[in-house]
Amino acid sequence: MFKTILAAVDGSDTGGRALKAAIDLAIKDKAKLYIVHVHLHGRPVEELERMAEIEHLVPELTGYEMPTAVRGTAMTRELLAHAAHEARVASELGDLVLRRARQQAKEAGVETVDTFSASGDYADGILDAIDETGADLVVMGRRGLGKIRQMLLGSVSNKVVQNAGCAVLLIQ
Ligand SMILES: Nc1ncnc2c1ncn2[C@@H]1O[C@H](COP(=O)(O)OP(=O)(O)O)[C@@H](O)[C@H]1O
Ligand SMILES: [Mg+2]
Repeated sequence: MFKTILAAVDGSDTGGRALKAAIDLAIKDKAKLYIVHVHLHGRPVEELERMAEIEHLVPELTGYEMPTAVRGTAMTRELLAHAAHEARVASELGDLVLRRARQQAKEAGVETVDTFSASGDYADGILDAIDETGADLVVMGRRGLGKIRQMLLGSVSNKVVQNAGCAVLLIQ
């Protein structure tokens, strides 16, 4: 039924379940699979730390110091270095998430898999990827890395549901 499926992954468990569902659907429908990740930013220290808590991501981050130690410093030079460091870690984490996702899809037997990474607004990055790939289905988590559990939808899933021109599958 679907010809081109886009999975959006943020490194969360829910995003991982969305990827699994997208893989299953891609195999069943013999669809092309694209996987998109938008580099984490905004509240980077919390989000990156949260992500690093996901056990299997930590070992591959050796060589990077998580930026906890410089939190709260006021000096401009340090802040700039901190920001550059965060961007590097975010991009490295993003590459890792995408590499693993692609490998998982390939091992499961999806024939055509391609990955997309972007920076900037998360939902806009996903919406752009829908346009660029011509996806007729986007699969994403209802929630992601965020901590505010009382909300039914995360802000990214909410914005994509409201603006996507294709079908959206939200995974719990
Ligand atoms: N940076 C991102 N890159 C790609 N997909 C994302 C990103 N952030 C969120 N998503 C997708 O949106 C889903 C919902 O996340 P979100 O709306 O951010 O909820 P939360 O507020 O719980 O983090 C995630 O499971 C994932 O599929
Ligand atoms: Mg989020």
